[in-house]
Amino acid sequence: MCGIVGYVGRVEDDGALDVVMEGLARLEYRGYDSAGVALVTGDHTSTRKKSGKLANLRAELEADPLPPSTTGIGHTRWATHGGPTDENAHPHRGGADGKLALIHNGIIENFHSLKGSLLNRGTVFTSETDTEVVAHLLAAAYEQHGELTDAMRAVVADLEGAFTLLAIHADQPGVVVGARRNSPLVVGLGDGANYLGSDVAAFIGHTRQALELDQDQIVTITADSVTVTGFDGSPAEGRAFEVTWDAAAAEKGGYTTFMEKEIHDQPHAVADTLLGRTDADGRLTLDEMDITEQQLQQIDRIIVVACGTAAYAGLVAKYAIERWTRIPVEVALAHEFRYCDPIVDDRTLVVSISQSGETMDTLMAVKHARLLGALTISVCNTHGSTIPRESDAVLYTHAGPEIAVASTKAFLAQITACYVLGLYLAQLRGGSFADDAQAVMKQLGEVPDKIETLLGRMDRVKEIAGFMADTRSVLFLGRHVGYPVAMEGALKLKELAYIHAEGFAAGELKHGPIALIEPGQPVFVIVPSPSSEHGLHGKVVSNIQEIRARGARTIVIAEEGDEAVEPFADEVIRVPVTAPLLAPLLTVVPLQVFALWLSTAKGLDVDQPRNLAKSVTVE
Ligand code: M6R
Repeated sequence: MCGIVGYVGRVEDDGALDVVMEGLARLEYRGYDSAGVALVTGDHTSTRKKSGKLANLRAELEADPLPPSTTGIGHTRWATHGGPTDENAHPHRGGADGKLALIHNGIIENFHSLKGSLLNRGTVFTSETDTEVVAHLLAAAYEQHGELTDAMRAVVADLEGAFTLLAIHADQPGVVVGARRNSPLVVGLGDGANYLGSDVAAFIGHTRQALELDQDQIVTITADSVTVTGFDGSPAEGRAFEVTWDAAAAEKGGYTTFMEKEIHDQPHAVADTLLGRTDADGRLTLDEMDITEQQLQQIDRIIVVACGTAAYAGLVAKYAIERWTRIPVEVALAHEFRYCDPIVDDRTLVVSISQSGETMDTLMAVKHARLLGALTISVCNTHGSTIPRESDAVLYTHAGPEIAVASTKAFLAQITACYVLGLYLAQLRGGSFADDAQAVMKQLGEVPDKIETLLGRMDRVKEIAGFMADTRSVLFLGRHVGYPVAMEGALKLKELAYIHAEGFAAGELKHGPIALIEPGQPVFVIVPSPSSEHGLHGKVVSNIQEIRARGARTIVIAEEGDEAVEPFADEVIRVPVTAPLLAPLLTVVPLQVFALWLSTAKGLDVDQPRNLAKSVTVE
């Protein structure tokens, strides 16, 4: 939530505004309620800020340009304290002299009491934000210390909550100071220029060399130096890493929206997540795994913690991992996990799933699990993010940057990584499925081409979405691994098309939800493969008949060659044949495409749906 950029270049390089605006454009997916910039310009700082999307700030800058500068900060906001107005937009100034400007991501939990003390001292506030409180405190601390890093250190000692702060001061031109606690901040290392960003997208157009910071650290950048210290002043070093993708990966590549592009990236996302997971003998290896094999052999329980789409990936993983390892798997919404007094010990493996690696609820669940003695593995798409660093081991998905707020390719990559983890555990523990691991890996290896084939058939789905622009409610039914897919299809529609959508386990239908069916009600049904065990296919075909008999309009997602569905389907969308447990990697694709085009047909903003932000860094 909120995108943050900081930049310092050498004296001859005074294009700070362009660098900051470029970074904000790449970070806008993190929040788009308002945006603003501040530059050091002579003996003061100059700011421009505007409610609404970045385009509004651009227009403001054209109407009222800023002078050249070597040093700047920029912010794109997802509102927490105070509505999305010009006044509440960041940066905020502190002090009466207009020399200090501050931007912030996160929530200052004790801001009420801090604000009370400032009001008693006569401080005048111009916004309703918690951030402005910190700006005034920082300006006062600067008066006292005469140096921005020291002032920042003094102020963070009094703050509670989660925050990333970036500040500039006109008396220290050529310096940006950042601080982080439980909120993202990475450093970009340039040649004669350095950068700060909520994530590497902020500076990917300029450098792929980056530095990861730990919690409770302060970083001071100039054009030629980066200095990291702890909140207590102790010297520290960030961890250097190289970003594996380039600026082109964070662009639309000829598609109209990031979401459309990312849907089409999915064959690569799955293939890349599978890369390098087998040794010369075809045995699975996970070289990013820092937990010992002996520890993994002893686990007797797995808990997946995640939110939203990532939690649905976890639900798919449950079916596969239990099947292959016979270890019980529970899936907990990360924000519920901590508060349900979870039963966890050193034989519990807690697997967190997060695209961003910054979701606060998931991060807190991981920390809590570790506190209770669990082993923790992070399935994550973002190098340099917090959750992997707080975990015992990491399994990176290689989906590349996901910019659209609605998660698509990350979902497929998460499911793929969880399959790999399940197969790895099966192999390690030597159960009855250990020998099948290689065969499943081979089947997985065939999936990217199947997704490609499927993507080539989506014209009819686009047409159906076009007809349904006025639809007020859509239901989704699935069973077994199709159940989380149904819920994911419904989530996509809610967040993108703002219409009522619900996903049900098809078996639950007769226990209540069937009452929702009335003539014309559109229902997507994800039909299990005819090769599924326990006659699941036949049971779902019966469900289709039951809702059809009550007037539902059935849009059926079925395997190629499954003729049994034909008589009861208003529309059939065919997916290539694959192993039943792997089917979600295919069956979810038409649902993503449907949501994309329904949102488009309604004239909505596909990439930046209302009220949302890409990464939810507050609880
Ligand atoms: O970055 P994360 O994977 O931790 O994010 C989790 C959810 O916030 C995310 O999947 C959300 O549900 C998506 N917007 C859904 O499309």
